[in-house]
Amino acid sequence: MHLNYHDPALWLSHRFACDATARNKAVERKFLEFFDHKALLNIVDAGAGTGANFRYYFDHIRQHQHWTFIEKNAQLTAKTEECLAQFARQQGYEFEQKDNLMHLKAGTKQASIKVIHGSIDDIEQLVSLQDTDVVTANAVFHLLSYEQFQHLVHKLNQTYVCLLSTLNYYEVSLLPFSQDNARFIQWYHMYMKRPQPFGIAMGPNCCEEMIDLLHHQGMVIVQESSQWHITRNNAVMHHFLLSFIEDAIRSLNLAACEKKAFEQWMDERKKLCQERKLEIYVDHNDIFAYPD
Ligand SMILES: C[S@@+](CC[C@H](N)C(=O)[O-])C[C@H]1O[C@@H](n2cnc3c(N)ncnc32)[C@H](O)[C@@H]1O
Repeated sequence: MHLNYHDPALWLSHRFACDATARNKAVERKFLEFFDHKALLNIVDAGAGTGANFRYYFDHIRQHQHWTFIEKNAQLTAKTEECLAQFARQQGYEFEQKDNLMHLKAGTKQASIKVIHGSIDDIEQLVSLQDTDVVTANAVFHLLSYEQFQHLVHKLNQTYVCLLSTLNYYEVSLLPFSQDNARFIQWYHMYMKRPQPFGIAMGPNCCEEMIDLLHHQGMVIVQESSQWHITRNNAVMHHFLLSFIEDAIRSLNLAACEKKAFEQWMDERKKLCQERKLEIYVDHNDIFAYPD
């Protein structure tokens, strides 16, 4: 089977199950209990991809739901309808697309979904934060800079909107142990923190920086870990992760001897994967923050 490791929709479809298992149930419970008194939830999903957060939470949230997805990658927004229709089919739910909105119905529970192609930076122009209960984001904020996150949190705090941010990236570790693992993962993190048009992404510092910032804004924070354990048999996820690390490190300006050491290390990891001896842990945390 040949997989295109550069297809973002394919990657998101494969990570869905790992995320679902890893999502922290205590943080999730706090989020659900916080809104227990409401009959309808207005949710904005930032960096929505193809709607993984919606597909995960629709069943967990007992209320009716209005979702607005904000996603900057047009390749992903173009695939969202197909992904949600497929989800509805699999679950036996009613699905229809009408007036630029998608509608999903499961028994008496209903959801509407609006997809906006745009950036989280413009959230206050794209949605009415005054009418929003919570902004959700899954595996997004390591891609944003501290300043972008600060801008977002400032807006949320001004309008008393909660934040549920899950699968915030922290660290990756590979087994079996090799002395070089730490060195190459550090380089991978250097790549994450390379200069980009919007600044420097928080990358592996996102958990700490987010908590600091939410704390300074006076928000109450509940946070717990949401670790992936990619076991020996999950070769597809191993291939995706190795391919991300490979592309990232190859794009750095390395000396010839460093390149050689990296290529040798990568070949060994691929061999371990083929032999079903590789395991990968990815540490994340989940945060639910609400105005005091
Ligand atoms: C790892 S993916 C996660 C997608 C989705 N939340 C999920 O769990 O499947 C991160 C997503 O954030 C989006 N993203 C990154 N920066 C963004 C920004 N400034 N505005 C909107 N979307 C952004 C990316 O395009 C990508 O789809």
